[in-house]
Amino acid sequence: MEVVIAPSAREAAIVAVSAFERLLAGADRPVIGLATGRSPLPTYRELIERYRSRRLSFARTRVFLLDEYVGLDPEDPRSCRSIIRRELLDHVDAPAGALVALECAAEELPTAGETYERCIADAGGIDLQILGIGRNGHIGFNEPPSSLGSRTRLATLAATTRQDNARSFGDDPDMVPRHGITQGIGTILEARHIVLIATGEAKREPIARAVEGPVTAMMPASALQLHPHATVIVDEAAGEQLKHADYYREAYRDKPAWQHI
Ligand code: GLP
Repeated sequence: MEVVIAPSAREAAIVAVSAFERLLAGADRPVIGLATGRSPLPTYRELIERYRSRRLSFARTRVFLLDEYVGLDPEDPRSCRSIIRRELLDHVDAPAGALVALECAAEELPTAGETYERCIADAGGIDLQILGIGRNGHIGFNEPPSSLGSRTRLATLAATTRQDNARSFGDDPDMVPRHGITQGIGTILEARHIVLIATGEAKREPIARAVEGPVTAMMPASALQLHPHATVIVDEAAGEQLKHADYYREAYRDKPAWQHI
């Protein structure tokens, strides 16, 4: 696992964007997995800037969602698919149909996970998966204690997640859907490169536990320790409780340019 401590959220976004640049320039049919939440937003804004200045293109890209709420109309502005369109895809040259949505209609729920897994496999797997981290260490909607081998499935949101996400639901946690469909931890770990972005002091503790604590289902993001190519990008605030921060800074500063993130 590589840990990059960036001086600010914007700098963290610039580091994350470098992974997109390399993938989009090099792969024939790049497949990316995108997360909602506040943490990746500066990265999406930076990607839009780069597209506008013609420094990258999403023309051949397929996009998978990390997770989705159950019970919202697909066109609801609070659905993850709407957010990803609004925050990124509507502003770049991703073809119509590039986004493979998670289908959450009641009659589709029992098979939605398997269907999504098949779509990911048919696309050749995810090259680059973007993640945030919840206050309780969740990734996607994999709340503690999610199996580290879990696959895409229906999951129940934790009370803390409903509280944190209430900002999009009139500040009322009871209005936040109780369930979501999420890529499983086992699914996420099959992405070829995982980039987790965390900024702000609320992420201090979960980041320290995920990076330097034991691998455990009680801290779902700790599963990234098992991945051969995982990059955790934090700003100073989110990285503040990392005991080995000096080492991470040194390793990032001294790595050869060809290694990228
Ligand atoms: C939500 C999403 C997660 C996201 C998390 C953190 O619960 N399901 O995928 O990582 O929130 O969000 P934020 O980046 O806003 O803290």
